[in-house]
Amino acid sequence: MSGGVHGDVVRIGIIGLGQVSADHVAGYRALAGEAEITAVCDTDPAALLPVAADLGVAGHLDHRELLAREDVDAVVVLLPHLLHGPVVRDALAAGKHVTVEKPLAATAAEGEELAALATELGLVLSVSENSRFVESYMQVAELIARGGPGPVRLVRGLIHGSAVPEYRDDTALWKRQEHGFAAILDAATHFFYVLAWMFGPVAAVQAVTRHWAAGHLPGVEVEDGAIVTGTLECGAFFSIEVGLALELPWGERFEVYGDRASILCDQLRDPPVIIHQGAHDPGVPLAGVPAEPRTWRASSMARGAADFVRALRDGRAPSVDTGHAVHAVRVAEAAYRSVRAGGAVQTV
Ligand SMILES: NC(=O)c1ccc[n+]([C@@H]2O[C@H](COP(=O)([O-])OP(=O)(O)OC[C@H]3O[C@@H](n4cnc5c(N)ncnc54)[C@H](O)[C@@H]3O)[C@@H](O)[C@H]2O)c1
Repeated sequence: MSGGVHGDVVRIGIIGLGQVSADHVAGYRALAGEAEITAVCDTDPAALLPVAADLGVAGHLDHRELLAREDVDAVVVLLPHLLHGPVVRDALAAGKHVTVEKPLAATAAEGEELAALATELGLVLSVSENSRFVESYMQVAELIARGGPGPVRLVRGLIHGSAVPEYRDDTALWKRQEHGFAAILDAATHFFYVLAWMFGPVAAVQAVTRHWAAGHLPGVEVEDGAIVTGTLECGAFFSIEVGLALELPWGERFEVYGDRASILCDQLRDPPVIIHQGAHDPGVPLAGVPAEPRTWRASSMARGAADFVRALRDGRAPSVDTGHAVHAVRVAEAAYRSVRAGGAVQTV
């Protein structure tokens, strides 16, 4: 077993070198003196070899070979959803600390089992939930924690962009249900995490989905449109809207309506956050939040990488709460139950 941190440098192995990996690799690479990528893995040589050569590190086609390495303290799992559980389990069993892309696991029960295993083995299990590190959300979370908007009545989230090129790629797994570039499990779970983080648990949901791309493209099984509405235990309403076949850049809107103020965030706008206090207030920007319309996602992933590494180095818990990540999957499960029940309310 390794799992400790070697001196003051955390030795990182990355498993899965697909679409999302470049931003993670850049994030860990930027942590010179704190972290070092020592090995990478992908079952596809075409994905593996260029990254291994670029980094000048060992490349493995089988994750178990990477996990057997003594010079890996922690692994970053960037795999299709169904593989999160099995590979995280293998990594923990090999004594490695782990961070895994969202969703933590394909089911909430599996996520809970992994969290319990990590605790039992004395290892860190975190989730690379980049929403936790979007600059505007971090500042809004502080405002909310200080009670800025007053009691919250309504929270809205919108995730928009176009996955149509990915859905057109016949070699990709994204279109298949179990690997899922799906509006609820892949996208809305970001905001389910944000709800748990900022406002507490979700009480009940109703959901409907659309298969806009599926109507035009062969083989697409996943839903690319979803609206998930419901109530939070704190009493507020929420509405999460996702469109993965909408023709504009990838972005997110996030709105919090309290009885004293309303906070409106939009990653594609400059300034990204405006606060209104009352019906006649034209709004003021939230100071200190940079506009990052093209780089907000990569920046948040880099901050997430830094948080994971510093948590290991400092012996503290990572900022992403694994319990919130499990709750996010549980909300997704309730949303899919609602879809199957024709939009009927489901408790979480
Ligand atoms: N946070 C975000 O905004 C964001 C964005 C995109 C993807 N993601 C998440 O990242 C994860 C990966 O998504 P992606 O879009 O990069 O997927 P992808 O399909 O592009 O990449 C997956 C990679 O894993 C490799 N792979 C498959 N099975 C393997 C195995 N057994 N061992 C090693 N490698 C294997 C594939 O060859 C592929 O290169 C998913 O959990 C997804 O939800 C998050």
